[in-house]
Amino acid sequence: MEKPAKVLVMGSLGRTQQEFVEAMEDRGWALSLAHDLAMANSLVGEAPHDVGISCFHAQKRPDTPELKRVIVNSDMEWVALIREEELEDSALCQVLSSLFMAYQAEPIDIEGIDCLLKHALVMKRLRDDDSSERKMTRETEFAMVGTVPGMRKIFETIRRVAAVDAPVFISGESGTGKELAARAIHENSQRAPSPFVAVNCGALPANLIQSELFGHEKGAFTGASQKKVGQIEAASGGTLFLDEIGDLPLELQVNLLRFLEERTIQRIGALDEIRVDVRVLSATHVDLEKAVREGRFREDLYHRLNVLQVEIPPLRERKDDIEILARFFFTKFESEKSMKVRGFSREALAVMQQYHWPGNIRELINRVRRAMVMCERRLIKPTDLGLERRIANRHAITLEEARNSAEKAALIGALSRNKHKVKKAADELGVSRVTLYRLMEKHGLERKGENDMTALPSA
Ligand SMILES: Nc1ncnc2c1ncn2[C@@H]1O[C@H](COP(=O)(O)OP(=O)(O)OP(=O)(O)O)[C@@H](O)[C@H]1O
Ligand SMILES: [Mg+2]
Repeated sequence: MEKPAKVLVMGSLGRTQQEFVEAMEDRGWALSLAHDLAMANSLVGEAPHDVGISCFHAQKRPDTPELKRVIVNSDMEWVALIREEELEDSALCQVLSSLFMAYQAEPIDIEGIDCLLKHALVMKRLRDDDSSERKMTRETEFAMVGTVPGMRKIFETIRRVAAVDAPVFISGESGTGKELAARAIHENSQRAPSPFVAVNCGALPANLIQSELFGHEKGAFTGASQKKVGQIEAASGGTLFLDEIGDLPLELQVNLLRFLEERTIQRIGALDEIRVDVRVLSATHVDLEKAVREGRFREDLYHRLNVLQVEIPPLRERKDDIEILARFFFTKFESEKSMKVRGFSREALAVMQQYHWPGNIRELINRVRRAMVMCERRLIKPTDLGLERRIANRHAITLEEARNSAEKAALIGALSRNKHKVKKAADELGVSRVTLYRLMEKHGLERKGENDMTALPSA
């Protein structure tokens, strides 16, 4: 044994206790003795133990549910020492079979117990390895890197929506990982063994997208020399991901709605309807609600698609993930890098933190990959990422400047929400009217009359 495994002995073996303890310690086990459950709980709380031996006997045995609770909460493997006649106690037998890895009936056989404990220890370590591996995969769950609370929430949502079969609408700026999230939902759903089919509704002209989605029969139109199975049908049994759904022409929105309602499709030029079972996920980087308001997107279709939502935050709102992602992609594209480059310089990491990332993760990947190829030094510099010039003319701001600008923004916000009524804005901000006037003056927010003001353009 590499290091003495810790064994918790719960209960007492009476006269044979001392002998038992010495024999086990001789065999390399580190024993802690607990005479009752309270003591067992506190010992486990003080230091983690590997395995446990329960040797309560009938007269001294704590309530079975209580015993059960200690064992279940202990995160250890357990062995029981019992008397033969106790096997007639059905409640105990149930606990034995469900919570203990093994039991030994008295008289105690030290060699036998030693052997059971070794086995219990192996089982416990296997279980630990398994769960630490699971913890690791959680880091890069669904191949999505994310450690900030916002991303943890997304992972949780993905897990939940994967468990049901309703349509999911995924929103987020360009390059935030919408398609990756859609794949993750599919992979974690019951449909995982069936196809995942992604269609970009914005990439094809209207006349082609109809046939792309619904398919066509041979000779259905000029040029249709072969029968074509549409993507909806191709996804049968699985998941259809409609990307850039906001770009779907209005006339096709009607067809899609009909499919969602009736679950049948008709290939172009076909007479028969085909029943298709697919789950529909959709995404867009445009504001679909605005498109509905402006009459460019059907409201009924919007509601059909938008049963469950996943909203992926932009990269600039996941600042703590930027470095982790950059290093993740550095490792991922390791084989493409120039010989010398070993990693990122501190300036490069700082610049990545400050940058706005309009193209989100896709942009991060592109910049990191390019830098890895182009860099001729050991460490990637801001210039290698193509970010130097953009950040250079933004001077670093002090805490004082940051506070001032947040304060000014709060004032402008409160004043405009309260239609420039100073008294109301002051109440909202939790300051007196006099203080608000003083702050307005400090920030160059002009008072026009008693109750109205305008913001002077900032210098
Ligand atoms: N959390 C993440 N961890 C690792 N890689 C990610 C993550 N999110 C996105 N990516 C990667 O970033 C790239 C862009 O992601 P994806 O295509 O899913 O974004 P999108 O939102 O669909 O973009 P677009 O709006 O441009 O279609 C992909 O290569 C994807 O694998
Ligand atoms: Mg996409």
